[in-house]
Amino acid sequence: MADASPDFAVRPMTAADYDAVHALWQATPGVGLDPSDERAPTERYLQRNPGLSLVGVDSEGKIIAAVLCGHDGRRGYLSHMAVAPAARGAGLGRQLTEQCLAALAGQGVLKCNVRIFADNHAAAGFWRRMGFAPRQDLSVMQRTTAAGE
Ligand SMILES: CC(C)(COP(=O)(O)OP(=O)(O)OC[C@H]1O[C@@H](n2cnc3c(N)ncnc32)[C@H](O)[C@@H]1OP(=O)(O)O)[C@@H](O)C(=O)NCCC(=O)NCCS
Repeated sequence: MADASPDFAVRPMTAADYDAVHALWQATPGVGLDPSDERAPTERYLQRNPGLSLVGVDSEGKIIAAVLCGHDGRRGYLSHMAVAPAARGAGLGRQLTEQCLAALAGQGVLKCNVRIFADNHAAAGFWRRMGFAPRQDLSVMQRTTAAGE
């Protein structure tokens, strides 16, 4: 009988995953990186949101997907969702999303946001499929702090 189990597994992201995760993000168009994605702020994010960010690994333990997940006490955020091209279309993006949303719900978080580059129509299609809807009445504004200048 054929083995119907997926050839990937999902587990929490740890600080030790940083190099592999960062390499995946760098190789993934649609994921925008800046100095906030360097090792120290990423480790701080993981410490502030324990257990919520996830990686997907193949049968040899190689990282083939990643997503940052956190919340600020009220809103949840998913960032830098990436699945390696060879692993796409097998339900890994959905599993990462659903596990993150379940964990946020378990912590009493009512809503989750995702920021998408305006020209990333493929990602928008994926997020719609995951049940996310655009907020036409909102836009993102941003500036640097003194630490970012
Ligand atoms: C978007 C991405 C994460 C999807 O990962 P994936 O593992 O291929 O997705 P899944 O196989 O879990 O697909 C889940 C569902 O979304 C659908 N889907 C996947 N990509 C889609 C797309 N571009 N448009 C519409 N639907 C899509 C699938 O058909 C599937 O539907 P179903 O479960 O109802 O049958 C992956 O393509 C990726 O890494 N893209 C580049 C990085 C990126 O742009 N990230 C977003 C940053 S905001």
